[in-house]
Amino acid sequence: MKRRALLGALAAATAGADEGPALDALARAKGLRIGSAIGDAVPGSRQRFAFGDAAQRALLARECSLVVCENEMKWQALRPAPGRFDFTRADAIADWATAQGLGLRGHTLLWMPAEWFPAWVGEAAASPAAAEALLLEHVRAVAGRWGRRIGSWDVVNEAVDPATGGLRTNPLAARLGALETVAAAFHAAREAAPHARLAYNDYMGWGAGSRRHRDGVLRLLAALKDRGVPVDVLGLQGHVGTDGQGRALDPAGGHEADWRRFLDEAAAMGLELAITEFDVNDRHLGADPAQRDREVAAIGRAFLDLTLDQRAVRTLVFWGLADPYSWLQAIWPRADGLPKRPLPYDEQGRPKPLRDAVVAALKAMPARSQGAR
Ligand code: XIL
Repeated sequence: MKRRALLGALAAATAGADEGPALDALARAKGLRIGSAIGDAVPGSRQRFAFGDAAQRALLARECSLVVCENEMKWQALRPAPGRFDFTRADAIADWATAQGLGLRGHTLLWMPAEWFPAWVGEAAASPAAAEALLLEHVRAVAGRWGRRIGSWDVVNEAVDPATGGLRTNPLAARLGALETVAAAFHAAREAAPHARLAYNDYMGWGAGSRRHRDGVLRLLAALKDRGVPVDVLGLQGHVGTDGQGRALDPAGGHEADWRRFLDEAAAMGLELAITEFDVNDRHLGADPAQRDREVAAIGRAFLDLTLDQRAVRTLVFWGLADPYSWLQAIWPRADGLPKRPLPYDEQGRPKPLRDAVVAALKAMPARSQGAR
């Protein structure tokens, strides 16, 4: 028995009496893997630092078989200055994951919106040749660093502008062209990490307001496929509850068919699908915590039921497991100033109705064929 399978079996047998089998054990029985982000907090914010907390690390190891660094593999974290890489924090998380027998997803080699690049990139990418050299240097160094330990990479994140469906620009894309930049990142990732599944990741949602965004993503994927660009996976971030700007989202009601069609079209292109950053933003829900938890669970369940019904979805990653560690504590505050409750565990480490909703969705979803992931 492989170490991970053994750990999984032990976890399934011994997970807290209240919680039942670990989420990953339940999901694995149907051919899906469960993961979570873990990482540093935004300094000075309300978000707590999960990786520094032994109880959070243990919770992740109990429920999941995959780890994603929340911020530590991004340009801003790895590239303090031109020509310099700082892998300290990313290595710490990757080494812990490996010691636990957990798999790794890499996030992210190219986060397209300009705001997510360190300021020095603008100056360093002074010509097309300089921009290309910078991109290739980055992808090779980062995708190459952890080798086979990273089974899938979010190569490109958020390239499509939700307002127009067109491609976003940034200091690299301004020199190379946006589609060329995206394509170059995938080709370089394939070379540097030939064993890894390569993902395009974005936050298009299931509401009517995301139609342009979804269409733009499908157009981008088709263009990449046409050019022979190696894209294996479409990452659905799955930040549900609001739109991508923290505004109230019209409920999915009535739009389920559009979301299904979107997932089906992506799957028909031969892509694997992954929910990569699941949480339920309760920014616009009422104050009462018990009622809020029930509503969060209902929204989460509806999204998961619909999405996991598509068998091409092989991975479900939470953007953190317990409320105080959620990135949503740091942005888009609630009007009443209360902390948010977007994740499956609460501030005391107790499972919430959202965890029950995830269990129910895992039990209800169709099995997918087993295979190496
Ligand atoms: C977020 C982190 O959670 C925050 O700590 C950070 O300040 C900003 O980025 N989409 C993504 C993730 O792909 O990388 C983002 O993570 C959340 C939205």
